[in-house]
Amino acid sequence: MADVNALNRDFTQYDQVQKGHTYRLAEHVSDAFDDDYEIDMLDFGQFLNGNADDKKRFVEAFGAAVQDIGFSVLTGHGIDTKLYDEMHDLVIELFESLSLQEKMHFRAQRHGSVNQGYFPIEETSNIHPDQVEGWVWCRRAFDMQQDRDRKLRIDDFWPKQSYEREFRRLAISHEQLFKPIAQAMFQSLGCDPHIYDQKLTNTNFGLRLNYYPPLSDDQVRSGAGRLLGHEDVDLFTLLPAPRDEGLQVWNHRSNKWLRLHPPQGSIIINTGDYMQRISNDRLPSTTHRVAKPQDGAHSSVPRVSFPIAVYVWEDEVLDVLPGLGEPRYEPIKAITFHTRSTSKFYGDDYAPES
Ligand SMILES: [Fe+2]
Repeated sequence: MADVNALNRDFTQYDQVQKGHTYRLAEHVSDAFDDDYEIDMLDFGQFLNGNADDKKRFVEAFGAAVQDIGFSVLTGHGIDTKLYDEMHDLVIELFESLSLQEKMHFRAQRHGSVNQGYFPIEETSNIHPDQVEGWVWCRRAFDMQQDRDRKLRIDDFWPKQSYEREFRRLAISHEQLFKPIAQAMFQSLGCDPHIYDQKLTNTNFGLRLNYYPPLSDDQVRSGAGRLLGHEDVDLFTLLPAPRDEGLQVWNHRSNKWLRLHPPQGSIIINTGDYMQRISNDRLPSTTHRVAKPQDGAHSSVPRVSFPIAVYVWEDEVLDVLPGLGEPRYEPIKAITFHTRSTSKFYGDDYAPES
């Protein structure tokens, strides 16, 4: 059912954490916007390089931001903006230089938890005709250290070897931030900051390239959004600030949408369902979507983004962390949690029998 008027409530049977709010998957004229909200920019260098007091100050501000809405915008993370410029151009080259037939050779399939490969326009999910093409690779597709006998299969996943090498630079530079971000989140909850260090060592992740082609008048009139409203299933996502507008985040305080347009070079961090589950609902999974640009001029150029979703491997167990009160959730294997949640997008047969 791909319906431009669908609500998140139409699909609650798939949720593996409590989500009480109601929103439309695509932007609608009746949606309310919180235009007064000021985004806090936080300097992650305070945590990465600072003394104990600097770290404490960062953790307090970061924890408040992610507990409030579920996202924070980081500067001082140490990743060169030049890398983002290069990746922006490479994403456009990848999607524009290959024919649809060449891209369809890599059509997305489930590998472990992750639906990995190419997603044609309007087929990112079964539930909304998103005006985006996507491409996802998890750690298995990269020449990166693989634990637990995972085999590298570059030819199966990449139209050219050089793409693996180039996008690996993006993955490796962000992988360095996985543990520090998790540590800051756990410290903000009063938990052992290192409780997930082992799980996050050579962990699985999903690098997703989004290519939003210029919109035709018919596509603009269709009522479909560029990417449906959703919560990420992961622990958290690192999203290098996209150049072009369109990202919207749900503010649980005001029950309105925020239009986010953080500066280039910053990274948006948002929490996902794994994190909501293990934090006993203390860190809510962030609702977000990509809407058509307000400025019509942007309809004539492609929009690009390249978020990285941080997972744990499929055989890990997601359990409420100690010290966070009476657990509201049972322990659950990551693959069960992940595939049941994402069956919402990929169909009821996406989750293997468990
Ligand atoms: Fe997302």
